[in-house]
Amino acid sequence: MADFSFSTRAAAEAEADLLVLPVFQGPAPGPGVRQAGLQSAFSSAKLTGKRGETLFVPGSDDARFAAGAVLLVGVGERAKVTPDVIRRVAARAAPRAAAFGTVATTLPQASRKPEDAVQATVEGFVLGSYRFDRYRTAKRDDAPAALEAVEVLGLPRWNARACRRAIQTAQIVADATCWARDLVNTPALDMPPDAIAREAQKMAKAEGLKVKIWKEPELTKGNMGGILGVGQGSVNPPRMIELHYSGAAASQRPIALSGKGIAFDSGGLSLKDAKNMEWMKSDMGGAASILATMRAIARLEPKINVVAAIPSSENMPSGSAIRPGDVLHHRNGKTSEVLNTDAEGRLVLADALAWLAEQDPVCIIDTATLTGACMVALGEEVIGAFGNDPSLTKEVIAAGDVTGEPMWELPLRAEYRPQIDSAIADVKNVGPRWGGAITAALFLEEFVDDVPWVHLDIAGPAFAERAGDLSGFGGTGVPVRSLVRFVLERAGRRR
Ligand code: BES
Ligand code: MN
Ligand code: ZN
Repeated sequence: MADFSFSTRAAAEAEADLLVLPVFQGPAPGPGVRQAGLQSAFSSAKLTGKRGETLFVPGSDDARFAAGAVLLVGVGERAKVTPDVIRRVAARAAPRAAAFGTVATTLPQASRKPEDAVQATVEGFVLGSYRFDRYRTAKRDDAPAALEAVEVLGLPRWNARACRRAIQTAQIVADATCWARDLVNTPALDMPPDAIAREAQKMAKAEGLKVKIWKEPELTKGNMGGILGVGQGSVNPPRMIELHYSGAAASQRPIALSGKGIAFDSGGLSLKDAKNMEWMKSDMGGAASILATMRAIARLEPKINVVAAIPSSENMPSGSAIRPGDVLHHRNGKTSEVLNTDAEGRLVLADALAWLAEQDPVCIIDTATLTGACMVALGEEVIGAFGNDPSLTKEVIAAGDVTGEPMWELPLRAEYRPQIDSAIADVKNVGPRWGGAITAALFLEEFVDDVPWVHLDIAGPAFAERAGDLSGFGGTGVPVRSLVRFVLERAGRRR
């Protein structure tokens, strides 16, 4: 990762290879633009300062800036420049900046929230620099060099200590997010359940987390019929990853986290068609986000306890696969009738949620690429949030707002519960066509007992099929930023 530093020197004096300066819509010069003698460059280029616009100004002998060159970037209307806008603009600038090596920027000065904006700037540069080229043998000619160093320029009256802390937190969170992306982008051939478990083990060892991998004997003894059932059609055996972060006394009840870890979702015997199967290596995006969240938490060391249970199976069709009509026995004693083997996420989560509910947690949050229906409702970028405790749901959604991971509450409508009544078991794993994200959430609710719980359906946001501001094609690492923020806030910290 690039080296990030904070300083309060004037933009025009920064000696970086590239100076990145914001321009407001109008256009109106942003912080540092006037001192660099570039107040009219944007308008003479007929640019307006809208987000997405950029103007490159090469250095020259009579330039009024010390940097090798300047990149002016539109950030839109001054009143609307939130830390999230800064994060996105920084991410868009990152690949271009990387070609220069060292960068200095006044971007956070465009917002009225210094520390949040500093954090957003650094997150943006790291996330925007992410690439996944482990599987390329030939170097692409359009592959930019790696960003070397970024000097974040603040104002002398800002709290430098808090800004340095913001940089550190941003690096930890963004780095963890990139790891989640790696896990998602790695083909299922190389990332079966046991490989996910080994990644978790390696991470836990490096970060000082307690870890236990549940293999088949433990899963059988533990009545994890959902995890075993979904996994039984694959040659790659299922696992459950149990992680503990202890930042407070053992008597303090933990926050509980879970994430759907379907290594590959073929649909099973209810086989998906080819188009719908293309990106199903990403069906462990929830698991990846929880692993990354745990890694970030271990590094940030908040005074709080967190427990995670991550179920991982590969959903494949075969002679040993579960069949429509089969009944599975879950951890909490409840039974589910599997009428569609492609509704497998809820089956594995059921066991993990039931186990977490036994750990006397203050709350449970799960994240899962659970339903196409949620994507139909909210599109590719908005997370569907369901919960059984309105204030907890609000708190999680608020964490998403400040970290730029938009969430929208969908109703956990009790009146729909009869739609998943089974003819022979306690519950069936599919409802009617309409409201599929809701009936999936209602299924999960059967397994959280009466613990305050939020379910985040990330089917859309976990994987980008088009490049966006913060990520290119592939895994996005959503919702690591929100989950880390939620845990930090519960520990009384903002960062
Ligand atoms: N993993 C899929 C959901 C999904 C779809 C995630 C598209 C990302 C992109 C999930 O296991 C699934 O197949 N859900 C079914 C449920 C249905 C059979 C009730 C769906 O949404 O079609
Ligand atoms: Mn499925
Ligand atoms: Zn799935």
